[in-house]
Amino acid sequence: MCGIIGYVGQEQAAPILLQGLFRMEYRGYDSAGVAVWSQEKGLQVEKTKGRIQVLSDLLHGGDDMEGTMGIGHTRWATHGEPSDINAHPHVSESGNIALVHNGIIENYMEIKEFLLHQGIHFSSDTDSEVVAQLLEYYYDKSHDMLDAVSRVIHRIQGSYGFGIICSDYPGSLIAARKDSPLILGYGDGFHFLASDVTAMIQYTRDIAYMDDGEIAVITANSIQVYNNMLEPVKKEHQHVVWDVSAAEKGGYPHFMFKEIMEQPEAFRKAVFPRIRDGRVMLEDLKLTTWQIRDFNKIDIIACGSSYHVGMVGKYNLERLLRRPVEVFLASEFRYCDPLVDKKTLVIVISQSGETLDTMAAMREAKRLGGRTLAIVNVMGSSIAREADDVLYTWAGPEIAVATTKAYSTQLAVLDLLGLYLADVLGTVEPEEYDAIVKEAHTIPEKMEAILAKTADIQYFASQYFNHDSVFFIGRNLDYAMGLEGSLKLKEISYIHSEAYASGELKHGTISLIEKGTLVVALGTYEPLFDKAMSNVVEVKARGAEVLALTTDNFREKMEKIADSVISVPCTHQIFQPSLGVVPLQLFAYYVALHRGCDIDKPRNLAKSVTVE
Ligand code: G6P
Repeated sequence: MCGIIGYVGQEQAAPILLQGLFRMEYRGYDSAGVAVWSQEKGLQVEKTKGRIQVLSDLLHGGDDMEGTMGIGHTRWATHGEPSDINAHPHVSESGNIALVHNGIIENYMEIKEFLLHQGIHFSSDTDSEVVAQLLEYYYDKSHDMLDAVSRVIHRIQGSYGFGIICSDYPGSLIAARKDSPLILGYGDGFHFLASDVTAMIQYTRDIAYMDDGEIAVITANSIQVYNNMLEPVKKEHQHVVWDVSAAEKGGYPHFMFKEIMEQPEAFRKAVFPRIRDGRVMLEDLKLTTWQIRDFNKIDIIACGSSYHVGMVGKYNLERLLRRPVEVFLASEFRYCDPLVDKKTLVIVISQSGETLDTMAAMREAKRLGGRTLAIVNVMGSSIAREADDVLYTWAGPEIAVATTKAYSTQLAVLDLLGLYLADVLGTVEPEEYDAIVKEAHTIPEKMEAILAKTADIQYFASQYFNHDSVFFIGRNLDYAMGLEGSLKLKEISYIHSEAYASGELKHGTISLIEKGTLVVALGTYEPLFDKAMSNVVEVKARGAEVLALTTDNFREKMEKIADSVISVPCTHQIFQPSLGVVPLQLFAYYVALHRGCDIDKPRNLAKSVTVE
């Protein structure tokens, strides 16, 4: 949510900043801006409402700005509507300091009042400008920028990643973070600052993650990091394993389509290295057998699609472990006085590893004594670093706002974890364990078989894209999978869509079914297939048009009653949602395509939500 980039080196900064912003546009895309400093021209700032392309056109690709040091920002509005004025960078009243901010300053009103009393004038409605002005207020007293930044971060409350330029410090960028990601990039004669590795991957794969409370002073030849007592800190460097091509469309029309197509490979990378000689090996876990046996329940915490992974996980893990599994929306968990103690295993699922609600919920669970285990995609992200244990999904960068391959790999890793824990607990029969492990090896090929038939799904999308209300119905794992299918559709096509447990329909929702309502009926969960059929009959009797999703072996039966049928290969029950979700992703994609929607950047959404 919001993207920050900073560069200082030998090259012209503006084109590099714009390029970085284009790569981070999925973090937020309602307005953008850059500030570049040069000896001759001083601080130059350009910002505008709209996409990065608008800013780039204004600056002729960056040619209009001179200077080898600068900061840039792409915004997802929180305080203040998207507008030229509210876009970042924000500049202090004297024009001496420019600042970009990611996060929310919770006590900005009180600070703004204070600064207004000091006679300072504001030009925007944002919490971020308050920080730029407060910084100048302190700087004017001490004429020491590091000291001023330190005073600011002791005064403000909330979350932040800052990139700062002060005209009195030629050649130095300053950064600070708390609860909002900031990454330092190291090069030969240049350095970067960014909220996302993708922004700088073209220039360097040598990075370090800033920690909460740290301040960094970045020049072309050095980066010095300080803790919140202004004591120097030595940073551990990491090497990013993927290269720039992973963050590019590579000939695909959209990132979402590319990422859907990457799922078989992503599944292989997430699962195959963790199965050796027929056994699930999770060497990355520090959990001991004794600890595993001591847990009496599991809580899963997540947001959005990651929460839907948790919903599938509940069915699979309860079945495998015979332990209660509860799934919580992270934003609810924090404030529900949760029943967590040291006998609770808390599984936290997050693609980005930066979702603030999820992070705060994880901290609460830790505070209560729970043992936390995070399933995360982004290496070195905050959740990954704070959890007691982490299992990475190794899906590579996911750029489309609507998640696909991250969902699939989270699910795959959660299933593996379930199997691993069940083995330790002795709650899975050896034959079933072997059958699941064997079946895991077939999933990528089965996904490929589904992806080879995208034309069928494209056809159904062309038939149904004009509906303005859709219901996804299913039972058990199909219900959990339907939640994700429905979210995908509404996120990117803006069609109103709901997912319901089929059995619940008759308790109210069925009143909404009328002639022509589209119902996507999910019938891939074999034990309840007959009941799924009955629900299709029920909605058909009320005039619904039914697009059904089932397994190949039930296709014929389903064709007798549904209007259209998509089928996926059969697999072990626990993996059926891993296959079933693929056509649902494709259906959402093609529907959105027919409706002319901006698939990779749906309105109002952001990929990584680092505000509450
Ligand atoms: C945002 C994204 C969703 C994502 C959710 C949780 O809302 O748009 O696609 O599922 O955040 O993100 P996380 O990174 O924690 O999985």
